Amino acid sequence: MEFDEVVRKRRMVRSYDPQRPVPPEIVDKLIAHALRAPSAGFSQGWGFLVLQKPEDRDRYWAACGLDDEEPDSWGARLRTAPLIIVALSNKSAYLDRYAQPDKGWTDKDEAHWPVPYWDIDTGFAALLIHLTAVDQGLGSCFIGLPVETIAAFKAAFAIPEEFTPIGALTVGYRASDKRSPSLRRGHRPVDDVVHHGRWAG
Ligand SMILES: Cc1cc2nc3c(=O)[nH]c(=O)nc-3n(C[C@H](O)[C@H](O)[C@H](O)COP(=O)(O)O)c2cc1C
Repeated sequence: MEFDEVVRKRRMVRSYDPQRPVPPEIVDKLIAHALRAPSAGFSQGWGFLVLQKPEDRDRYWAACGLDDEEPDSWGARLRTAPLIIVALSNKSAYLDRYAQPDKGWTDKDEAHWPVPYWDIDTGFAALLIHLTAVDQGLGSCFIGLPVETIAAFKAAFAIPEEFTPIGALTVGYRASDKRSPSLRRGHRPVDDVVHHGRWAG
């Protein structure tokens, strides 16, 4: 698929064919592309939890409180995905990397960081997974983890203390989907969002 088409056709897909697993070579490609994402100082402070076995996926949905949804709700439809990839960020990898001599922030003070690059870089990697899925003829959806479920999720999958899940991608072959009500908002006009030269007035 042409890159323009990948970007134009990209949608968050919430319904999948549960009978059609994602071929192993595509799973490998999704991960390989994620690892090509840029990262501040080339810190690469990310991690990915790949869940394909039904019992692992069920454990994920139970930990995140999405195991008891009404049929045809978005939660129930997302659960048809044969593959879940949870993207996790590791702040300490950045604080350690930037304490090295070429960066010099030996105090490891978080005040150096205007925004959390560890989450941003992991988000870039997640977007590459999403776009790669589209390019391979699949659909995916990025979903957040409810804040109150993060401890249960980490315990259920033996996630090390220093990693924080930034979200998960459901991936699979598309089934007929329902349009998200959020899309009624429409795209914001370019002139509201893009400012040339200076911001306003
Ligand atoms: C950071 C982030 C968190 C999101 N969380 C959810 C979520 O928890 N559940 C969901 O169904 N969609 C989620 N989405 C998808 C958005 O609802 C979707 O991107 C938006 O409505 C625009 O639709 P589109 O991506 O299909 O163009 C999330 C997207 C982002 C970028």
